[in-house]
Amino acid sequence: MTAIREVPSKVRRFERIGAHTHVKGLGLDENLNAVKVKDGMVGQERAREAAGLIVQMIKEGKLSGKTIILAGPPGTGKTAIAVAVSRELGANVPFIQMSGSEVYSSVRKKTEVLLEAIRKCIGVEIHEMRKVYEGELTAIDIKTAAHPYNPYQKVPESIRLTLKTKKEEKTIEAGASIAQQIMQENISEGSVIQIDAETGRVANLGLSLESAKGKAYDVDTRKKIPKPSGEVMKEKEFVYTLTLADMDGINARRRFGGGIFSMFMGGSEVKEIDMEVRTAVDESVKKLVDEGKAFIHPGVLFIDDSHLLDLEAFSFLGRAIESELVPIIILATNRGVTTIRGTDVKSPMGFPLDLIDRSVIIATHQYDPESIGEILRIRSEEENVKLEKKALEKLTEVGAKSSLRYSVQILSLAAQNSRTMKRKKVSAADVEKVDRLFMDIGEAAEHLRKYEEKMMLH
Ligand SMILES: Nc1ncnc2c1ncn2[C@@H]1O[C@H](COP(=O)(O)OP(=O)(O)OP(=O)(O)O)[C@@H](O)[C@H]1O
Ligand SMILES: [Mg+2]
Repeated sequence: MTAIREVPSKVRRFERIGAHTHVKGLGLDENLNAVKVKDGMVGQERAREAAGLIVQMIKEGKLSGKTIILAGPPGTGKTAIAVAVSRELGANVPFIQMSGSEVYSSVRKKTEVLLEAIRKCIGVEIHEMRKVYEGELTAIDIKTAAHPYNPYQKVPESIRLTLKTKKEEKTIEAGASIAQQIMQENISEGSVIQIDAETGRVANLGLSLESAKGKAYDVDTRKKIPKPSGEVMKEKEFVYTLTLADMDGINARRRFGGGIFSMFMGGSEVKEIDMEVRTAVDESVKKLVDEGKAFIHPGVLFIDDSHLLDLEAFSFLGRAIESELVPIIILATNRGVTTIRGTDVKSPMGFPLDLIDRSVIIATHQYDPESIGEILRIRSEEENVKLEKKALEKLTEVGAKSSLRYSVQILSLAAQNSRTMKRKKVSAADVEKVDRLFMDIGEAAEHLRKYEEKMMLH
């Protein structure tokens, strides 16, 4: 018997709840004033308003090559604010998030890691006019010839196509490469295609609504589009957005392409990109911008835990900020006055003074119990956890006593406990139980001190 299973009508989308999933934006009103609780954000009004101004300037293209420092104690929402900034910027502005520790790689130089991250944050919107043949394919005739090495096999030699638009019909003849593309993509009569006049690249746009196949109510998953208007051969504007890093990659591969390297390795993966390639990309981008054919969209590079960067990385960033094509750099740290990595010099936040001097600093502050309670309530909704009133009070107390982050962890664990007990709501007893089972950072430190002599050292 064939097993038939009914799929539940409500399709669940893929969901994973991360630490900042509840953050949907900065929660500001139209005058950029922070609303106490909005978009999943609670309190921390000054930092949110400051971030709002920055977002507005980025959107208007007024800010580039600036550094912003987010400074504050652990768990006060620095990463949450950076995530909110990325949500506010929308999909078109590149936003890259990395941790300071990511610069330490055994295969790549620190400056290379940083430079690549910087170049990933600069979007280049390229407008290009290209000559194309476009229309519904009404007739197709492929001529084949015997394969040069295998006379029993036939290979396409040339192709004759008839393309039709609402205005006219044209028949064109083309060589083997276009014939091959048409065969490979399974393009047949009724499809609307586009052939680049210069490169011969064929794009299958979909099935024409006016063709016999397009009109039939067959099961056909192909996209249906109207028959193009105008002439068959026309100039069309193409717009694509790439990042500088994409362009570096394409150019570097083009240089290596087809060489002996790619023959053995099956396509080359470029680990480090030559400075020469990058300079060439920059030059061509600048030229396109001058000609009005490209627009630059500087994005945001967010380096979390940036006290993990060292002097070399900081001085590289300092130099990068001065150059022409740079994104906005946001550095977050929870350090006070500490030594700059790679030196024995003490400095605020572990950053060199000249970098601090060129930055604007946004501070985040410790939360009051009321805000902690509100954040916990939002988290419980996000995690689909029902809390009794007493449980929320207890969690807030835990949060105020140890840390917001610890209480968020305890919330998930208490929910797991009540689920095990087959209860629908989390009670204060669940919270108390898991708070007893796990240690917060203060308790852990105390525990280690107590057993200091008994612990293994190596
Ligand atoms: N104002 C806020 N509104 C809503 N949620 C918040 C807020 N501040 C922090 N959170 C949430 O609390 C948790 C801890 O905050 P976050 O990770 O942003 O702290 P942080 O300042 O980056 O800490 P660290 O210095 O340890 O990196 C996260 O789950 C975060 O989404
Ligand atoms: Mg953080």
